[in-house]
Amino acid sequence: MEKSKISDPFKKARLEKGFGKMNDQNDPVTMILGHKDVRKSAHNWKTFQSGGEEVGRIVVPSEVHIRDTRQIPFEVDPPEHKGYRDIVEPWFKRPLEAKYQENLSQIINNVVDEALSKETIEVVEEFALKLQSRALTILLNVPPEKADLWISWGTHVFRSEDTALDSSKANILYDYIDAELDKAIANPGNDLYSVLLASENNGTKLTKEEAKGVMILTFAGGRDTVINAVTNSIAYFAEHPQALERLRDEPEIMNTAIEELIRYFSPLTQMGRVVTEDTQVCEHALKAQSRISMCWASANRDERVFEKANEVVLDRKVNPHVAFGFGTHNCLGATHARQIMRILLTVLTQKVKSMEILDCEENIENLDEFKRKVGFDSIQVKFNKL
Ligand code: HEM
Repeated sequence: MEKSKISDPFKKARLEKGFGKMNDQNDPVTMILGHKDVRKSAHNWKTFQSGGEEVGRIVVPSEVHIRDTRQIPFEVDPPEHKGYRDIVEPWFKRPLEAKYQENLSQIINNVVDEALSKETIEVVEEFALKLQSRALTILLNVPPEKADLWISWGTHVFRSEDTALDSSKANILYDYIDAELDKAIANPGNDLYSVLLASENNGTKLTKEEAKGVMILTFAGGRDTVINAVTNSIAYFAEHPQALERLRDEPEIMNTAIEELIRYFSPLTQMGRVVTEDTQVCEHALKAQSRISMCWASANRDERVFEKANEVVLDRKVNPHVAFGFGTHNCLGATHARQIMRILLTVLTQKVKSMEILDCEENIENLDEFKRKVGFDSIQVKFNKL
């Protein structure tokens, strides 16, 4: 089997029932699997809530036991959600600026040059994590050296080798953000920490706790997702040199190709909501206070919406994928992530002739009845110069 292949474990359940079940720390989740139902549920924030009392419960696996800080704007529902979103939205559109892209391009050229200069490279730690962390310094507008510490944390901010959720690891991040916010309070600059602390929501300054909620989300939401998107791209082009060739010859399909790869990889498998009233989806009864999840990865392979859903069609014309979510909470980091992908693929077409996968270990999510590959724990690759 192709090593870059990401299969669709949800097909049978999606077609037969439209939903699946998984246990998560004794707080079961009903996973919504069809494209239409996923979009409908994401839209219905009154019945399927992101906020609510228990901070961390909408994440699967639940973070209730490792986090007290509410992630903002992620764990806030309308109408309050809009006030926060209006504050952060302009900042997260900065990746559209030329200077931002120039800086990103420098970072990505450097990691690709480094990969080409070595005999072989382990892409997750030595390529994707470095690229992701250095790119984040631009999004936060902080000095590039800050990335060195983030890289030293390893690929999983919350995950250690043997446990899915590790509170001691999560505290490294929370304590770090606390300290950085204290520095910004004492000495404001033009970084995201300072901008948040100076912002007002309905005439009231954001508290340190609110700013911390935005920063935790920015670090956590953009880490594994980007690392998986980058690593899976390298694996895909290593096994499909003709696809890289095609992008070289037809740069005009670059943007559709990126959307297609993001659909196919679906780096975030699912995200949860808390049910506020007794209701049903797919003729399945849901009790108030239970949990559902919208399974973006399954929706993105729905054969009723996507022709050849399990194939990468680089010039796919209509692509209503939900890999970046849908509706109220759609991904704030999508502009940054898309620029990373665009520049990475462009640099690969300019500098890389071919890549060979020498060895790899898959990263498989265990979702009870479903096992889903999201990427790799490690992948050793040889890059060959153009
Ligand atoms: C929301 C996926 C990169 C920050 C989301 C959602 C998805 C998603 C599916 C919706 C969650 C929901 O409805 O509950 C992805 C993927 C990425 C990516 C696939 C990379 C390929 C990033 C990056 C950042 C980021 C780089 C920031 C550094 C956020 C934030 C939200 C969000 C702040 C919440 C927005 C809100 O609640 O209004 N992302 N994400 N993401 N993402 Fe991303």
